[in-house]
Amino acid sequence: MKKVLLINGSPNEKGCTALALEEVAAALKRRGIECETRNIGKKPVAGCIACGSCRKTGKCVFDDAVNEILASADEYAALVVGSPVYYAGASGQLCALLDRLFYAGGGRWEGKIGACAVSCRRGGATAAFDRLNKYFLMSNMPVAPSQYWNQIHGNTREEAAQDAEGLQTMRTLGDNIAWMMKSFEAAERAGVRIPEREERVRTNFIR
Ligand SMILES: Cc1cc2nc3c(=O)[nH]c(=O)nc-3n(C[C@H](O)[C@H](O)[C@H](O)COP(=O)(O)O)c2cc1C
Repeated sequence: MKKVLLINGSPNEKGCTALALEEVAAALKRRGIECETRNIGKKPVAGCIACGSCRKTGKCVFDDAVNEILASADEYAALVVGSPVYYAGASGQLCALLDRLFYAGGGRWEGKIGACAVSCRRGGATAAFDRLNKYFLMSNMPVAPSQYWNQIHGNTREEAAQDAEGLQTMRTLGDNIAWMMKSFEAAERAGVRIPEREERVRTNFIR
């Protein structure tokens, strides 16, 4: 079975976002699914410069984590991105990485399960959650559900650890990702395939 890639979009490797992703990963592992976690780290992450070179090469012109992830995309059946909430959005670093991962990655995420988890002290979680889900929803990625929107509350790991409902939401998300992965595998064995796509229509403006 393929793995789940979890990306922690917080510069804090052991913070609240990490705790949320660990809870998702623990639920997946309990169901026999291998997980790989990457931290975005503390160094600046380049944003997309709209050079279009990925259209020709299939890689990003900035040779960093984006190209590493794209090179191993076939190993993953699901992508889970976690982010602290910064001004009611996902972290700038994570958006910079995901813009390039999805723009350069094109159809490579199609059919893989997508999910996100956000962590905040007090507010803005659903706005960040919506923003992150938009990467998946325009990439033909089925989005895994949970019992609530995937958010945990706290300013420190210790505070987030007290958010019992947030942690349960993460475990339910992990359980649902495992269920979807196994269902998709069974469907594939039964001959059910991703739908054939029409040639892509791009209407940049309406005459
Ligand atoms: C630049 C910045 C902006 C933030 N904006 C918000 C916000 O809009 N709403 C909120 O509730 N918390 C906000 N916070 C707090 C973090 O979202 C919160 O502490 C989060 O749980 C940290 O996750 P981490 O430990 O994984 O880094 C902000 C923190 C920083 C550093």
